[in-house]
This record gives sequence, C-alpha cells and structure tokens, in this order.
Amino acid sequence: MMKVVRTVAELREWSRKFRADSQSGVERPIGLVPTMGALHAGHASLVRAAAKACPGQVAVSIFVNPTQFGPSEDFARYPRSFDADCALAEAEGANVIFAPSVEEMYPAGAATFVEVEGLSDRLDGDSRPGHFRGVATVVAKLLIAAEPDLAFFGQKDAAQVAVLRRMVADLRLGTKIVVCPIVREADGLALSSRNTYLSAQERRRALVLSHSIRRVEELAGTGERRADALIAAARAVFAEEPAVRVDYVELVDWSALLPVDMATPGTLLAVAAWVGTTRLIDNTIIV
Ligand code: PAJ
Repeated sequence: MMKVVRTVAELREWSRKFRADSQSGVERPIGLVPTMGALHAGHASLVRAAAKACPGQVAVSIFVNPTQFGPSEDFARYPRSFDADCALAEAEGANVIFAPSVEEMYPAGAATFVEVEGLSDRLDGDSRPGHFRGVATVVAKLLIAAEPDLAFFGQKDAAQVAVLRRMVADLRLGTKIVVCPIVREADGLALSSRNTYLSAQERRRALVLSHSIRRVEELAGTGERRADALIAAARAVFAEEPAVRVDYVELVDWSALLPVDMATPGTLLAVAAWVGTTRLIDNTIIV
C-alpha cells in the first residue's frame, strides 16, 4: 500500500528504514521522483523508471515550490490535482508520496538557498530570474531528506538537469541523477502540466515548438553541424507561426549551457516560446 507523508521527518524515516535493511545485506536502491504534481504521462514515465530500478522503494514528491516562481508567474493558478496524482503514482509503482506544506519545506525565517552560479542564469534562468535558485534549493532539501540512491528527472527540462547535476557534484551528494526521455503527445507536443492552460487554437500553435525541434533533427541528420545554420532552421519554423513569440533558440553544451559554434553528439538544442500567456519549452540532443 502506498502511503502519504507530509513531513521531512517521516520521509527521512521511510528512507532510513531501507538503508538499515541494506546494511543487513539487502542491496536495493532507493529512488526519488521530484514533481510539482498535476501528473501526466511524462511524470508517469519517471515513476515507472524509478519503480523498475528501485522496486518497493520509490518516493514521489508533490510540492508546488513557491521559490521557483517569479512574482508575476503562475504559482497561485498552477494546476493542482492531488487525488488523481496519488492514483497515477501508485499505479506506476510509487511506494510513498511526500506532499509537504510550504511551511514544512520553508520553515518560518528560512534564509538558506542554493545558488548554482553561472548555470542558473542561462536559458530558462535568463528569462526567469531566480527560477533555478528555487529549483536547486528545493531539490537539495528533497535529496538531503530522502537520501535517494537515484533521483529521476525528465530531459524535457534540460537546463534544470544541467543545474542539478552541477549541484549534486558540488555538494557531493550521494545521489545519481537519472535522465528520462521526453514524452510527447501523438502529434509531437511535449507533455507539460502547463499545456492545460492552452486554448484549442493555442494548442495547435504550440506544435511549432516540436516542429522546430524535428526540423533541426532532420538537418543535423543530413550532416549539418554549424550552430548558425541549425538555429536559423529552427527560427524559420517559428517564423511560420508569428502568433508564437520565441523566447530563445540555443545550441549549447549540455553541461555548461554555453553556446557552441558546432554541434557534436550530446549538444543540446533548446527552445522556449510564448504561446499566448503560456511559456513552453522543448529540446533535442544532437546525435
Ligand atoms: P515538474 O514540472 O512537475 O516536473 C517533474 C519532472 O517531470 C521533471 O523532472 C520534468 O523534467 C519531468 N517531465 C515533465 N514533463 C515531461 C515530459 N513530457 N517527458 C518526460 N519528463 C517530463 O520540474 C519540476 O516539476 C520542478 O522544477 C521540480 C524538479 C519538481 C522542483 O520543484
């Protein structure tokens, strides 16, 4: 039976119990899947991967983290669907849900934050000042509380992965980060909790993100490696959908998030765009 816990102390106790077992010879990893809820098939794929790698020992956190939202962003109206989230997580093999209050994660007077310098200012961090400081802070708290062997994240948020990898290395945390592929709708749109904000017309327009990604993949597949050509190809696709406003189209090294002149296997092509008032992101890794 999956249980729901609300305090850091309970999450820590849950994980410590397995750690004690493993000292008596049972060697199985503990897995953590951090989320903000409003779970969809993308999140489900993470929980499934965790359940496969860490059977019986999977925690899913559901916490809409206020510190990663800017003052004019959608914290208050971010979709919340706790009961459905629990059902989905349990069906995919979660063993505990960690659903803390804001006060539990940020006790009164909380003054400690995690800043991954440099990386936090790139891509989404450039458009959303303070966003990655909030992400790094909450994920550090989760990793310190649950002490997972493996923590599962989606490639969908590729810059977030780079920030968190750097953080885990710098803080010498004992968790390995596992990155899972982007789950898409049948027509290519990357699943996102924010897709629920889109009107029918915006939903159609939003396809320009995945189309631009696919165009770059095709071009790279023909041998084109020059950053300016790959970026221009993505921008040309966006130009066909003028109602969508590009935030960025960047070809970067996936670790440093710095622009490169030539794509090599592993280079990240990332896009962000505004569809009406909804900001969406997508990306591909050059092969
Ligand atoms: P959230 O947006 O809920 O996403 C939770 C995890 O699901 C992230 O690792 C994200 O990359 C992954 N995910 C989202 N859409 C996906 C898709 N279409 N395919 C595959 N994986 C997908 O990311 C966050 O929450 C927060 O920043 C968090 C890490 C929980 C910190 O608050």
